[in-house]
Amino acid sequence: MKAIQFIRNSSEEGSATNIELPRPKATGRDILVQIEAIAMNPVDYKVRPAESEPPKVVGFDAAGTVVETGDAVTLFQEGDLVYYAGDVTRAGTNAEFQLVDERIVAKRPTSLDAASSASLPLTSLTAWESLFDQLGIDPETPDDNSGESLLIIGGAGGVGSIAIQLAKLAGLTVVATASRKESSDWCRNLGADHIINHHEDLTPQLKSLGFETVDYIANFNKIDGIWEAMAEMIAPQGRIVLITGHQTQLDFGGTFKLKSAKICWEFMFTRSMFQTDDMIAQHHILETVAELVDRGKLIATVNRSMNPINAKNILEGHRRLESGTTIGKLVLSGWE
Ligand SMILES: NC(=O)c1ccc[n+]([C@@H]2O[C@H](COP(=O)([O-])OP(=O)(O)OC[C@H]3O[C@@H](n4cnc5c(N)ncnc54)[C@H](OP(=O)(O)O)[C@@H]3O)[C@@H](O)[C@H]2O)c1
Repeated sequence: MKAIQFIRNSSEEGSATNIELPRPKATGRDILVQIEAIAMNPVDYKVRPAESEPPKVVGFDAAGTVVETGDAVTLFQEGDLVYYAGDVTRAGTNAEFQLVDERIVAKRPTSLDAASSASLPLTSLTAWESLFDQLGIDPETPDDNSGESLLIIGGAGGVGSIAIQLAKLAGLTVVATASRKESSDWCRNLGADHIINHHEDLTPQLKSLGFETVDYIANFNKIDGIWEAMAEMIAPQGRIVLITGHQTQLDFGGTFKLKSAKICWEFMFTRSMFQTDDMIAQHHILETVAELVDRGKLIATVNRSMNPINAKNILEGHRRLESGTTIGKLVLSGWE
């Protein structure tokens, strides 16, 4: 099968190559998916092989067709059109065929093509688990949630673009951060009620909108540099979810303690990495996401499409993501 393999941790030309690899075989709860389209995420460049590591096939979001099922598979059969965000501990989606555990896969939206479907899983799972599992917002009670406010840091990124939509469906007032006209417009079009700029001091901007504090903060971008601002902006007994690492020492006490703030982490790969008992929850979340898309409640956030899936385009995608300025999702489809 065709695959793209990174040979070093770089996005420069020559760091990834087009190769032929043996087609894997499905066993147990694995299904073998013939990949039609993939989406790219920052994690793709974060897991490129270090100097001491062997070459690696990366990539996580995919849409394709089930071509083989393991003997313990119960949820899918050959020919099903599926989408998923994969497992960070296994070989990635930058390949023509991929094995994936059926519990983290769902049938893709019937109203979307493969490329738009591929844009959804990783960011939808992250946004869903952040808002509804970690922050504890109830998606079923929009009327009860309507007095509550959520600050989304990094509104126009892949995760923020889905989170804005899910939070609005859940009835919240959403303040999203964006630093440019095009990213601000993008967030507004997805439903954000207010925009503030993450390259300026956030607290006074929030106050000038009439918010002394917010009930929830979903930080989908950098933590360093705005830690104290988050302590100021969160309401007493408010909740904060974080999804990225940090370089500086963070004080989890101080104002956070005085406010009894809850601070929690979201890592989309936890369930598959630790094979948690509730791993199948990701199958159900993706089913719900597909249903929301097909009912016109949620839109895919593709903002750039490239084809085919090959080393040249994958490397260009990595460079775009590394710039930290992509809006929505970047997708690749088709094989040469
Ligand atoms: N824990 C998990 O499970 C998980 C899952 C998904 C992603 N992540 C991580 O979360 C981060 C975001 O992922 P993503 O896919 O949403 O990223 P992305 O699509 O690459 O984000 C790009 C956006 O980031 C915004 N941005 C740039 N600098 C910022 C800053 N200082 N503060 C706030 N926003 C800023 C930019 O907006 P402007 O153009 O308006 O500046 C741009 O639109 C990445 O580090 C990723 O690895 C973690």
